[in-house]
Amino acid sequence: MQPEYSLKVTHKAQLTKNALVLQFEMPEELARQFQFIPGQYITLVQEINSQEIRRSYSLCSAPRAQEWAVAIKRVDQGVFSNWAHDKLSVGDTIKVLPPEGRFILQPDAADQSHYMAFAAGSGITPIMSMIRSVLTQAPHAKFTLVYGNQNKAETMFAEDLADLKNTYPDRFSLVSFYSRETLEGARFGRIEASTVRHLMKQEYADTKFDQFFLCGPEAMIVVLKEVLQEFGGTSTNIHYELFFSVAQEPTESAQGQSTLRVVLDGVTDTFVINKDAPILDAVLAKDLDPPYSCQGGVCSSCIARVTEGKATMIKNQILTDSEVAEGLILTCQALAESDVISIDYDNV
Ligand code: FES
Repeated sequence: MQPEYSLKVTHKAQLTKNALVLQFEMPEELARQFQFIPGQYITLVQEINSQEIRRSYSLCSAPRAQEWAVAIKRVDQGVFSNWAHDKLSVGDTIKVLPPEGRFILQPDAADQSHYMAFAAGSGITPIMSMIRSVLTQAPHAKFTLVYGNQNKAETMFAEDLADLKNTYPDRFSLVSFYSRETLEGARFGRIEASTVRHLMKQEYADTKFDQFFLCGPEAMIVVLKEVLQEFGGTSTNIHYELFFSVAQEPTESAQGQSTLRVVLDGVTDTFVINKDAPILDAVLAKDLDPPYSCQGGVCSSCIARVTEGKATMIKNQILTDSEVAEGLILTCQALAESDVISIDYDNV
């Protein structure tokens, strides 16, 4: 069972017209459970219109600062984001799951790396925590951020980034792209293959980057994973996290039913499920309490191991080929393929 904790909102402020930052009070007794690595997220849980809604948000604060802050951008028709913007107030408490996530950067004092990150829109949030941590904890490391937005007014953390540039002029550099505004000192356009190639050849031809961190829409990540290979990127030094993932339809072959055996918290349950719906949905419908948060194949909370039978994933940008080969699945994306399937949440 995933532990949930009630945390009080101590600060709420607008970052832009459509984005806010929330900060939580952390009682001393919970500080250990809520320790995090830059890049990780927490999951907020709230009942809205009689339905429990969970949403994962990356922590944008630095762990060393002992602050737990997330940024929430208002999404058109977004039940949770609109509730957080319109109804949630300082002093309210909200249920929160402890930090998770594998998109991480853990700098130390001896680190001499030059990090490069690409972020689009609210994809900046985990990157903010990484930048703050590198600049404050690794005095010999450098960070270059390429940050894309439609215009300056909608750019989250614009002031914080300007402050960091002033404070660490030799170690932090920022390249801004705006797709709907021409501004001096910024580039016009999107982060895409042609603009990134041009940037890398023009500005960074003599710079060697050690690690790349990408956070934004799937299309941006797919392009950058390929383009960066021309500039020192490899499968081991390019790290990425999807924001705004695009839902995909189950395949046509997913028909019929399957007998699902689930091991969760040491207890085994067996029931029949439809092959055309994600395994996680079926497990939740049985009132079990599996780990999950985004339900979009983005966060990795819902991993389980297939111990018998076969499942296919609608989408997987998180698990490596070897993890898939050893039987791991994202249950929110997995459809049962065999007539009998056993999964184990406890053995991952
Ligand atoms: S719940 Fe987030 S990846 Fe499945």
